Amino acid sequence: MSPKRSRILGLVRPDVWDIEPYSAVEPPERLASRAGLTKEQIIKLDANENPYGCSPAVGRALSEFDEYHIYPDTICGDVQELLQGYIGAPADSIIVGNGSDEIIDLIMRLFLSPGEKVINCPPTFGYYASSAAFCAGKVVRVPRLSDHGLDVEGIVKAIDDSTKIVVIASPNNPTGNCVKTGELTEILDTGLAVIVDEAYGEFSGKTVLPLTSEYDNLIVLRTFSKWAGLAGLRFGYGVFPTALVEQAMKLKPPYNVNLAAQVAVRASLADLDDLMDKVRLIRVERDRLYGELQRIDFLVPYPSEANFILCKLLRGDLQHVKHELESQGVFLRYYSDPLLSNCLRISVGTPEQNDYVLEKLRSMGSTLPANS
Ligand SMILES: Cc1ncc(COP(=O)(O)O)c(C=O)c1O
Repeated sequence: MSPKRSRILGLVRPDVWDIEPYSAVEPPERLASRAGLTKEQIIKLDANENPYGCSPAVGRALSEFDEYHIYPDTICGDVQELLQGYIGAPADSIIVGNGSDEIIDLIMRLFLSPGEKVINCPPTFGYYASSAAFCAGKVVRVPRLSDHGLDVEGIVKAIDDSTKIVVIASPNNPTGNCVKTGELTEILDTGLAVIVDEAYGEFSGKTVLPLTSEYDNLIVLRTFSKWAGLAGLRFGYGVFPTALVEQAMKLKPPYNVNLAAQVAVRASLADLDDLMDKVRLIRVERDRLYGELQRIDFLVPYPSEANFILCKLLRGDLQHVKHELESQGVFLRYYSDPLLSNCLRISVGTPEQNDYVLEKLRSMGSTLPANS
């Protein structure tokens, strides 16, 4: 029986029709089946996931936990305390989220009324623009300079009475560079809400957290998805100015971080030394991969302080490169933003995975047209 025709579509907010859908990465099974391969035959380096997985302590802790029938603590008090020990920010300034994506949403909902503006500095993480659009916010693009640094002058000039937020990823995804302190303080001095997203902070070893004691308009985001290998369990957090916490908490779903994620975060923080050893391995591999990519004459890799490397294709057709790599089981990240035309991003894998990708890239060189 076909459903009764109603005017349901007419009830949808008109601005939703214009939202560009966020392009989420696909799970390994689907990638593999698209390439006619098995999951075991593919190398998934498209989402900056941790190639070593999470701490083995996570599986043990999850199997021993037996209170899944109880609602989780809304503030995740014990996790807040542990995070205070980990990053040094006061426990009550930390708001937890189902991934840092959810904290990005929370901040947009906290500041944006329809039509109000967010300054975004592309090329950057695509979800900022999506999240602003969910609140009918207006995204003002101030593109990064040719060295991928921020155009601070452009940002300051773009501000008007309806501007509320400036978003900066550091290291930036996908360019891999960190914000410079002088640039950041200039932006903070505008008095707007400034989000610094440190999703890859553990790989850079740099943080702007000390500035939170000087600036009450700085919010710092972190996640356990990358360095702790918990992308699938979803846990991120924001360090908020104390004065904002009460208002922000009103907008947080009450039980957003499930108990499995909380158990996993606790187990990860108890296994910090081993996880940080893996972070160090990834950094060493990143630098080796960068050096090897520099030797491939049809690519220009950009220096990175994160766990991925952005590369520009100098000759040949990117769709052809993508197709060739995928047919051999290698999945990387490609872009539709014109600022990233001819670019691909390689997440740093294990040494074996990186060697495989390098070999496939090198062998493709002879099939691409020569430089004119
Ligand atoms: C810069 C940046 N911020 C945030 C996220 C989202 O992380 P999470 O998994 O915590 O939602 C990502 C994910 O790729 C990212 O690249």
